[in-house]
Amino acid sequence: MKKAIYVAANWKMHKTLQEGLELGEMFSKYQVTHGVTAVVNAPAIHLAGLAGIFAGSGWSAGAQNCHQADSGAYTGELSAGMVASTGARYVVLGHSERRIYFQETDALVLDKIRSARRAGLIPIYCCGEPLAIRESGEERPYVENQLRESILQLDPEEIRDLWVAYEPVWAIGTGRTASPQQAQDMHAFIRRLLTDRFGQDKAACIPILYGGSCNPGNARELFSLEDVDGGLIGGASLKYDDFTALLSIAGELIRA
Ligand code: PGA
Repeated sequence: MKKAIYVAANWKMHKTLQEGLELGEMFSKYQVTHGVTAVVNAPAIHLAGLAGIFAGSGWSAGAQNCHQADSGAYTGELSAGMVASTGARYVVLGHSERRIYFQETDALVLDKIRSARRAGLIPIYCCGEPLAIRESGEERPYVENQLRESILQLDPEEIRDLWVAYEPVWAIGTGRTASPQQAQDMHAFIRRLLTDRFGQDKAACIPILYGGSCNPGNARELFSLEDVDGGLIGGASLKYDDFTALLSIAGELIRA
């Protein structure tokens, strides 16, 4: 039985303003089970609209990135304070697509986490190894290094209200999911690193989500794993039926 399950959508660069708000309206009418947290991490253009639609519904909106500075001459960028001012409560940071296509390093992601915290946002910190690293059997040291250069640098009081998403890069958008064993092993490993750094009580409060081709067909098994607290969902979050099916599975596991 699970006490809490966290299900976060990652819309990436999908949906026009109208399409996003339409789906948000539909989502907001779906009653999320007590104990399940539903978040939609959307493009910046959707945030204010979604936050308004979600108010009082049990759903929350989040961004997919923010700048590390509180303000300044950074044309085209979005600060954490701007995200918070829309009513959004979360921000995904360090997603592998940002690391790959925008050269984001863990040192930068750490600065972004601190800026998100200053703005009162809950950071969803992403980590995970590429295929070559998995094939060489080096995934644990790789992920440990990501954590050591980012969230393990935080002070114990800064770790409150932070989520981690383990997303093996080879499983993102590929239809190839980590096996339950692979997911559980890595999540337990991450939990141990968090426990060693922040102590058992604080580490136990950090949700660790799995991400990478999570869908209604595999979510029950993944969400049931001891150290998997939910999922960060890309492709399956773009369709009402798929995403609400994931939330239903989460609800059933809470009630079980
Ligand atoms: P996917 O994406 O569910 O489409 O694999 C997950 C993610 O990138 O967060």
